[in-house]
Amino acid sequence: MKKSFASLRLVSLMLGISVLVFACGGGDKNDSGKQSNGATQQAAAKQTKITIKGDPVKGQALFMKNCLACHGPDGRGIKGLGKDLVNSEFVASQTDEQLLDYVLKGRTPDDPLNTTGVAMPPKGGNPALTNEEIIHIIAYMRQINKVKK
Ligand code: HEC
Repeated sequence: MKKSFASLRLVSLMLGISVLVFACGGGDKNDSGKQSNGATQQAAAKQTKITIKGDPVKGQALFMKNCLACHGPDGRGIKGLGKDLVNSEFVASQTDEQLLDYVLKGRTPDDPLNTTGVAMPPKGGNPALTNEEIIHIIAYMRQINKVKK
């Protein structure tokens, strides 16, 4: 009896030590993990990564539901509402990532970069729109945009 108690204690002591070692090692790993997460989050805040290929056919259908009201059925814009996207130098000059960030954020009338005094609502005013869907819409905007880069 006594002997097995002793060995039990030894085992629990060893367990205790290994837990301690593990906790310290794990702690370090967690810290560095946090740092790199922070860095990627910062990068993501600057620009959203695009990892799928946009489909202009899906994009057109989504455009008709979410953007047509202001940008018109052919994307040529509606006076006093949305701008012409077909003749948009801006669309031509931006990368897909930049356009995704633009659509996600929108542009308020008081933004110094706003050109019309009218708001471009974030996600065109549909909060349910996913990044993937916006990437399809961007593929469609590329297709209708006639400005040469
Ligand atoms: C409620 C009206 C409205 C809706 C809906 C809307 N937009 Fe806009 N959009 C605007 C306005 C207004 C501007 C111009 C903002 C400015 O003056 O800079 C604009 C500008 C843009 C621009 C920049 C064009 C340029 O040449 O500067 C893009 C790209 C764009 N919209 C994409 C979209 C997409 C994609 C959707 C659908 C998901 C959408 N918009 C839905 C009103 C709208």
